[in-house]
Amino acid sequence: MVKNYFVTTPIYYVNDRPHIGHAYTSVACDVLARFMRLDGYQVKFLTGTDEHGQKVEKSAIAAGLSAGEFTTKLSQNFRDLTGSLALSNDDFIRTTEPRHIKAAQALWQRLLERGEIYLGSYAGWYSVRDESFYAESELRADGKAPTGADVEWLEEPSYFFRLSNWQDRLLEFYESHPDFIAPRSGRNEILAWVKSGLTDLSVSRTSFTWGIAVPNDPAHVVYVWFDALINYITACGFPDEQSPDWQFWPADLHMVGKDIIRFHAVIWPAMLMAAGLPTPKRVFAHGWWTNEGQKISKSLGNVIDPLVEIESYGLDSFRYFLLREVSFGNDADYSKTQLEIRINTDLANGLGNLAQRVLSMIQKNCEGRVPVAGELQPVDQELLAAAAGLVEQLRPMMAEQAFQRALEQVWLVVTAANRYVDDMAPWSLRKTDLARMATVLFVLAEVLRYLGLVIQPFMPGAGARLLDQLTVANEGRDFSDESWNRVLESGRLLPAPVGLFPRVGGV
Ligand code: MSP
Repeated sequence: MVKNYFVTTPIYYVNDRPHIGHAYTSVACDVLARFMRLDGYQVKFLTGTDEHGQKVEKSAIAAGLSAGEFTTKLSQNFRDLTGSLALSNDDFIRTTEPRHIKAAQALWQRLLERGEIYLGSYAGWYSVRDESFYAESELRADGKAPTGADVEWLEEPSYFFRLSNWQDRLLEFYESHPDFIAPRSGRNEILAWVKSGLTDLSVSRTSFTWGIAVPNDPAHVVYVWFDALINYITACGFPDEQSPDWQFWPADLHMVGKDIIRFHAVIWPAMLMAAGLPTPKRVFAHGWWTNEGQKISKSLGNVIDPLVEIESYGLDSFRYFLLREVSFGNDADYSKTQLEIRINTDLANGLGNLAQRVLSMIQKNCEGRVPVAGELQPVDQELLAAAAGLVEQLRPMMAEQAFQRALEQVWLVVTAANRYVDDMAPWSLRKTDLARMATVLFVLAEVLRYLGLVIQPFMPGAGARLLDQLTVANEGRDFSDESWNRVLESGRLLPAPVGLFPRVGGV
């Protein structure tokens, strides 16, 4: 039976240019999508753009474009990330697409019919930058939102979603699904917030028009967050539950930044429960990046452009750094020195050097052919076993989004293999014991094969290059037992080695 796996990024506001925050979430989801695909799952990986609301409308006006033209133009920047970050997303959704408008209106209608939405009037604070409502008690002493954004007073007729009704059921749900929210800090924040009491949520606006029309009451447009969350089921064919894509719902994982966890871990499951639909299996809230220790903001002018970083360091190295630097879930600092140390130490001197040493020795001393192994000694078996065990060890780590631990695990093998090269000294064996040299190089080539396989999700380019150099067939590159255990064929001619990772910078 085919197992499904559905992973989503948040849909990004089109008014911003893609920055490191977007790249981070998208790369993390891509690594999971690739890992699960290689591991035999039928994967759906969704990303896209959030195009309605006052913030986008204002940006369109400032740009002198209609909201429609503006969103179409800017959405393309995010679509292009697929190529520049090597994302393997299966769908790209825009909330202005007819399929989404239909889904959002259908869900609205269903909630209205179930008595979960009612008409009232809203009087309170709103931040356009955050597209969020704030209670008076949440505002800072200087009158701004807790995020530092400006707020404005709103008084308008509004539909409300009976969020308050779902407080107890949400708490029961968190209790019975301890892995629903990760990491623990995110879970604690949500539990405290829900326990402190939920109020009904204003879910429509009348003071502007750039949004999805409320069914049968076109003076209202749907609140942008209410609209946006629904994208995850739109992409599964909602409201057509017979659609072939509906099999992917509920999502296995919504990956989000820690600033938007409440929407995903409270409001969204409440909306789904209220509609009688299954709730997602997990929400992971990752941390935020600073730039050389400083908070990133447009006004400080220190926004990190992923395209510039890729240009300087290469895509594989950039992806590696994002996931290796800190334990996923914690905040991280984008420090150039740290980045260059990582690239040079782990990639160029670590894996890159290992591949280079082994492949060029094979080239020079074995006529460029996969050597013939003689009897294996315990030291050979130990290294091979460590490499062969990698995929099994990584599975539970990937299920917990523990990317850093997974990479550390892989690098234990890289380090052990480099040490094995030093200890076995195949260059000396060349003069004393050719058969033993061949065995050692065969063991190392096999270790490189395992490493090539397992790094593919993280560094698709380097993974493919390494496997190409070992002439591993395309159908032998997944994590099925058959591929994983398909030992290199002795005697096979290998191409001339090429470097995997260039050294960078001055460190
Ligand atoms: N449109 C909403 C999401 C709707 S999902 C139904 C939105 N979009 S966003 O473009 O503003 O944010 C996208 C993501 O970028 C968020 O998950 C946010 O956490 C993340 N980041 C923005 N800046 C960031 C950093 N400096 N570091 C890491 N991630 C950050 O919110």
